[in-house]
Amino acid sequence: MSTTQKVAVVTGGNRGLGFETSRQLAKKGYQVILTSRDEAKGQAAAEKLQAEGLDVIFHLLDVTNHESSKQLAEFIRQQFGKVDVLVNNAGIYIDDQAGENSIFDAKIDILEQTIETNVYGALQVTQALIPLMNENNYGRIVNVSSGMGQLHDMDGGSPAYRISKTALNALTRIFASELKGTNILVNSVCPGWVKTDLGGAKAPRTPEQGVDTIVWLATAADGSATGGFFRDRQPINW
Ligand SMILES: NC(=O)c1ccc[n+]([C@@H]2O[C@H](COP(=O)([O-])OP(=O)(O)OC[C@H]3O[C@@H](n4cnc5c(N)ncnc54)[C@H](OP(=O)(O)O)[C@@H]3O)[C@@H](O)[C@H]2O)c1
Repeated sequence: MSTTQKVAVVTGGNRGLGFETSRQLAKKGYQVILTSRDEAKGQAAAEKLQAEGLDVIFHLLDVTNHESSKQLAEFIRQQFGKVDVLVNNAGIYIDDQAGENSIFDAKIDILEQTIETNVYGALQVTQALIPLMNENNYGRIVNVSSGMGQLHDMDGGSPAYRISKTALNALTRIFASELKGTNILVNSVCPGWVKTDLGGAKAPRTPEQGVDTIVWLATAADGSATGGFFRDRQPINW
């Protein structure tokens, strides 16, 4: 790795949007640390991208495990001494698995599990990596949110997922506010409805289309937007 090569961490990188984000960032010359909570799946995903000639390595990360985030930060400090990009992509959507989709039947354990991954997960990975960004006064943090978390036209159904993405957007605003005046930019993105295990086969977008705005924000120039919510490279309502 050259000293000028940027280092990017992607959570939930073994499949779907995280995998494609890893590929696209590596294609742009980034050293990508593809993380996954499953060693075998993460390793296989990284090897697939390495076979494409890309600078991708695997590191274990379960975003719900505080120790796991700390170990990742320690590994990065020793191996690279910096991190430039964090894509908080790992997420779950388990409202439907619970056999309910209405807030009238919302189960607290489904809410807890969803918020633990989609909100507290992103929070603690960010907390673990921000010191490394601060030391360099450079950082691009992209929180992969969803239009389903928009308060502006909040609909019914899937309450756990919706609430988690609204809360993730709040994290974006709070971090961006506390990082004002630094070169660490924090934004939320809605990738649109994308064909992945989570999005399902009927989704109109390919993963490559879905990650376009994620990669755009992850590679944004100094002085670009912070504390925003974007889809298709355009600001959208909270
Ligand atoms: N697809 C869409 O239409 C769509 C639309 C809007 C927003 N999004 C958001 O985009 C992000 C990626 O979604 P996707 O469609 O790519 O979903 P996906 O194919 O289901 O992939 C989700 C990824 O998150 C990982 N993950 C879940 N819990 C984790 C944990 N505790 N620690 C580490 N990784 C964990 C999964 O790992 P395992 O393989 O181990 O389960 C998997 O790699 C999510 O935040 C989702 O909410 C997706």
